[in-house]
Amino acid sequence: SFEVKLASSGRVIRVAADCTVVQALSAAGVSVATSCEQGVCGTCLTRVIEGEPDHRDMYLTPEEQAAGDQFLPCCSRSKSALLVLDL
Ligand code: FES
Repeated sequence: SFEVKLASSGRVIRVAADCTVVQALSAAGVSVATSCEQGVCGTCLTRVIEGEPDHRDMYLTPEEQAAGDQFLPCCSRSKSALLVLDL
């Protein structure tokens, strides 16, 4: 598992292995707009301020994925213990 931190409030939310970032945020009362929930549409695109996303989507280009400053939280995860999100 890993944690995400909301830049606006400083809240830290744990993302369990069997749960997506969107699901963990939703359970904590933070809603992110989604549509496909499969990493295809880009609706849930979220800016990453700190940490290293583990990209699992088919939406971002390889260059965008390598830049690491945005990710698709409906399917992507984290390589670092903490991701700070622009939420
Ligand atoms: Fe479609 Fe996340 S909801 S990419």
